[in-house]
Amino acid sequence: MRLPSTVKLVEVGPRDGLQNEAATVPTEVKVDFIRRLGEAGFNVIEVGSFVSEKRVPQMADTAEVLAQIPWRDGIAYPVLVPNMVGLDAALTAGAREIAVFTAASETFCQRNLNCSVAESLDGYARVCAAAKERGIWIRGYVSCTLGCPFEGDIPREKVAKVAASFLRLGCDEISLGDTIGIGTPGKAQAMVQAVAEKVPRERLAVHFHDTYGQALANLLAVFERGIAIVDGSVAGLGGCPFAEGATGNVATEDVLYMLDGLGVRTGVSLEKVLAVCRFVTSHLGRAPASRVGVAFLGRQTNTIGPAQTPV
Ligand code: HMG
Ligand code: MG
Repeated sequence: MRLPSTVKLVEVGPRDGLQNEAATVPTEVKVDFIRRLGEAGFNVIEVGSFVSEKRVPQMADTAEVLAQIPWRDGIAYPVLVPNMVGLDAALTAGAREIAVFTAASETFCQRNLNCSVAESLDGYARVCAAAKERGIWIRGYVSCTLGCPFEGDIPREKVAKVAASFLRLGCDEISLGDTIGIGTPGKAQAMVQAVAEKVPRERLAVHFHDTYGQALANLLAVFERGIAIVDGSVAGLGGCPFAEGATGNVATEDVLYMLDGLGVRTGVSLEKVLAVCRFVTSHLGRAPASRVGVAFLGRQTNTIGPAQTPV
């Protein structure tokens, strides 16, 4: 099996995880969540988004979150930005890294951003140019790379084309989203291979939701194709508000348990991630969606829930 020696884990729980949770999480809990993630060893923690508060109310306090987190050297705290309004707000709040996002599916893009894929890229040309002028690091997300809740199969050439557009706009890293967790290993490999013909693979990340339980298998498959940047969400939180039925990201602790077992370095402590998992699930009043979270925390405490004291 071909494996990277090191994997960069990008923790997206405070954004992708919390954006779709029913419970509104108080700002101070988000800040504590992010602080604990930093102590667990992540170098990248996606902390929120500057989007319409009517559409994603859970992210409305992102400016306050940025103002209150203990910024640590060596950690990047990117935020999602859909347009110039979002970029201005992010810069005002002190963001140094942003993520722009579109899709390989026209219908999903319309539902998510209220515009076509081409219109979104036109808008991002301005956003990326303005961000680059200020030395801001940029990630580009492509959603629905392995299927769309509205259109079904998505041609991998379309995924590659959108990813290549992000590269041209100046994105430093491009994250390929299986937004509804529908992909299987062969398809994931073929999609990544198609994209890697247009974008250097060291700039590619994968962002797998785990709706159908395929995410770990898909990760192993894309490691074979030279991918070494993986997005995850502690406790497998979240989903996409604009893709009905999509469950959370692959759980960080499930990924980490696998990588530790394979001897792949990440710099992240599984023990500390499990403590964060207990902290955040106790605040949300729900059990983790991860196998590793349930196995470890269940063994220590038998139950996970709001009655427990967060560690
Ligand atoms: P729009 O509906 O086209 O309309 O918004 P608009 O541009 O005319 O603006 C409508 C209202 O939003 C106006 O306010 C604007 O001022 C305001 P009103 O006059 O009604 O009071 N507005 C904003 N407010 C805050 N921040 C902004 C902003 N821009 C306009 N940046 C817009 C377009 C993109 C803003 C909207 O459609 C939106 O916010 N969509 C939400 C997108 C989103 O956050 N989706 C979830 C994240 S993507 C994801 O989860 C996938 C990912 O994880 C990868 C994967 O899994 O595949 C990344
Ligand atoms: Mg996502």
